[in-house]
Amino acid sequence: MASSRIAAVLLLLGVLSAAPLATAKTFDFFYLVFMWPGAYCAQSGCCVPTTGLPADDFFLRGLWTYNATTMESVTKCKKNSPFYINQLSGLREELNSYWTNIKCPSTDGKSTWKSTWKSYGVCSGMNETDYFQFALKLRAKVDLLSLLKKQGIYPDYNLYNATDIQSAIVEGIGVTPEIRCSKGPFNKFQLYEVYICVDKDGAFMECPGSQGFTCSSSILFHPFRYWMMNQTSTIDSNHIKMPISME
Ligand SMILES: *[C@@H]1O[C@H](CO)[C@@H](O)[C@H](O)[C@H]1NC(C)=O
Ligand SMILES: *[C@@H]1O[C@H](CO)[C@@H](O)[C@H](O)[C@H]1NC(C)=O
Ligand SMILES: *[C@@H]1O[C@H](CO)[C@@H](O)[C@H](O)[C@H]1NC(C)=O
Ligand SMILES: *[C@@H]1O[C@H](CO)[C@@H](O)[C@H](O)[C@H]1NC(C)=O
Repeated sequence: MASSRIAAVLLLLGVLSAAPLATAKTFDFFYLVFMWPGAYCAQSGCCVPTTGLPADDFFLRGLWTYNATTMESVTKCKKNSPFYINQLSGLREELNSYWTNIKCPSTDGKSTWKSTWKSYGVCSGMNETDYFQFALKLRAKVDLLSLLKKQGIYPDYNLYNATDIQSAIVEGIGVTPEIRCSKGPFNKFQLYEVYICVDKDGAFMECPGSQGFTCSSSILFHPFRYWMMNQTSTIDSNHIKMPISME
């Protein structure tokens, strides 16, 4: 009978999908990715998150799971990977400060964390709380803005030697970061993101390959000021867009 054949097929499919995945995706290392909000605001405009003002510092953009051979990201390792915001309750303050989303219109960051969790977090082998905590600890350990300041590199609208920026970071963490630039005022390359490779145990490591970003040899370090996050009073956003660049 047709219906019993369908039933048999469904049963078989059920058995197959319940079988352990022989080809479970694995990863080799993490990319710890920082984002400089001054560059983001200058290029795209930015808004204060609904949770309030973030830190005046580099933000985390992600902790991405990567394959060292292909240098490609390893994502979406589990089909069913619910995201529970309450598992982050102890980390919310730190997340709101350092891992927020300043796009316009204002958001509360939840969808950012959710998509990071679903794409990369589930591949990390950690649970949700541990994954975000691990990333936040790494952020604090690097403390990028302080490392740069120590070497006289400030977000002061000056041009800095890209090699000096890299060296300042090497000085602090012992491994070479990759710098990603965006186009800033006067079409100059500006410091936008910093990629640092981290092994599964949380130790910084030399990257097994490169993202192949292009920057000029001297790059602009754009200031980040709260007034750039175009908003008038406290939390409500009028969803006003910033001009494309700050010049
Ligand atoms: C990385 O990708 C290569 C090529 O697809 C694969 O053979 C290898 O097993 C992957 N590494 C890990 C750790 O999964
Ligand atoms: C996450 O994992 C850690 C250690 O592996 C454990 O102590 C903690 O209870 C777990 N948290 C949840 C919500 O499962
Ligand atoms: C940047 O610094 C490096 C190493 O100190 C030096 O070789 C290079 O000429 C500098 N580049 C510029 C554009 O100043
Ligand atoms: C926000 O942008 C609008 C439109 O560009 C401008 O009129 C307003 O003065 C800005 N507000 C702040 C606080 O910079």
